[in-house]
Amino acid sequence: MQFETEYSLKPHNSFGFDVKASFWASAQSIDDIRDAQRFCQENSLPLLVLGEGSNVVLVENYPGLVLKIAIQGKAIIKADEAKVWLKVGAGEHWHSLVQWTLDNDLYGLENLALIPGTVGAAPIQNIGAYGVELQASFYSLDAVCRETGELVRFNKDECDFGYRDSVFKGALRDRYIISHVTLCLAKTPDLKTDYGDIKTELVSMGVVVADAKSVAEAVARIRQRKLPDPEVIGNAGSFFKNPIISHEKFAQIQVKYPNIIGYAEGDLVKIAAGWLIEQCGWKGYRSNDAGVHDQQSLVLVNYGNADARQILDIAQKICSSVRDSFDLELEVEPRVYGVGVR
Ligand code: FAD
Ligand code: EPU
Repeated sequence: MQFETEYSLKPHNSFGFDVKASFWASAQSIDDIRDAQRFCQENSLPLLVLGEGSNVVLVENYPGLVLKIAIQGKAIIKADEAKVWLKVGAGEHWHSLVQWTLDNDLYGLENLALIPGTVGAAPIQNIGAYGVELQASFYSLDAVCRETGELVRFNKDECDFGYRDSVFKGALRDRYIISHVTLCLAKTPDLKTDYGDIKTELVSMGVVVADAKSVAEAVARIRQRKLPDPEVIGNAGSFFKNPIISHEKFAQIQVKYPNIIGYAEGDLVKIAAGWLIEQCGWKGYRSNDAGVHDQQSLVLVNYGNADARQILDIAQKICSSVRDSFDLELEVEPRVYGVGVR
């Protein structure tokens, strides 16, 4: 295993922040992960795990080892009449996996097409889009304990998935490095086309009878229209989670703001944070190279040479305006790394 020094992280974070790692290595196997842990212990270095860096805010140079998880491979480990259990290396690219499942007549991931990042990062925040979350197809994961080097299997319940949340963002934060994820996929599709613009998009594509591939394509087309491509404009997708509040509080806000966008989810209502931010006048805001996307206010952007502090400064101001106008708290979605930030 090779350890590089003074390694630029600019190509490894989708915001494109120009920061360096004191050390960098790429893990192709569980043994590599353990080697990296040993290297950190022997040299008293902190360890930061990265997939494709599409959900991180790197505030400054990292004074330790940044370990990219690059474990590849897919294997069908079990099948019955209706389902297939597929074990995937954590370093596989998520969207390539979605395409591979569709090419192999395996279903469940179609609405999650084109989400950036790796398979190993997907359980960290239980990725979700267009009415589906990872947890619907998740079976288990294998992860190396950062303290003992032991390989541990977590089943779905143990991951404690929630909206953009899992045990790995809470009680077990920074305690495990995911090496493999096992998904349970269906042999026959159960299409979910009720969310947002999927049906309209299928019509505009000329699709008469939808199948899983056309749903994935519809989702990809909507995403490409709405979200900035990090290759062109640096970003980490939604910068904030959509707040979840009681029906009572929603009704109170509705009195003053009848157009507020909220989606009932059982006893609670999920509010469109993008709408809140737009109402506060932030859509399209720009200060030097840091800004708020002009099509989607939930996405903060780096037009070229912004640094993380400029983005965090805008984020803080957005939180204050949303608090003042709506009495709602916004929670940052990506993981922020820097001194004094946990
Ligand atoms: P990274 O950014 O590298 O890491 C994210 C966090 O996970 C870090 O804390 C890291 O330490 C940890 N981590 C990564 N890999 C491992 C591992 N193997 N073991 C342990 N910890 C690990 N997300 C959605 O849910 N839905 C969306 O629709 C969506 N759209 C997006 C659109 C754009 C344009 C962008 C840029 C991002 C979007 N995201 C979305 C966020 C992002 O794609 C996901 O969070 C993705 O899972 C991150 O993968 P990654 O490999 O880039 O993780
Ligand atoms: N809206 C506005 N103004 C804006 C942005 C949005 O009024 O500036 C309105 C839209 O018109 C729409 C509603 O808000 O009526 C919701 O917008 P959208 O469908 O774009 O979805 P979102 O709630 O902003 C969430 C996820 C995305 C995911 C999409 C599709 C979160 C935090 N974000 O965005 O996930 O792709 O739904 O399911 O839940 C991510 O997590 O990084 C991410 C991109």
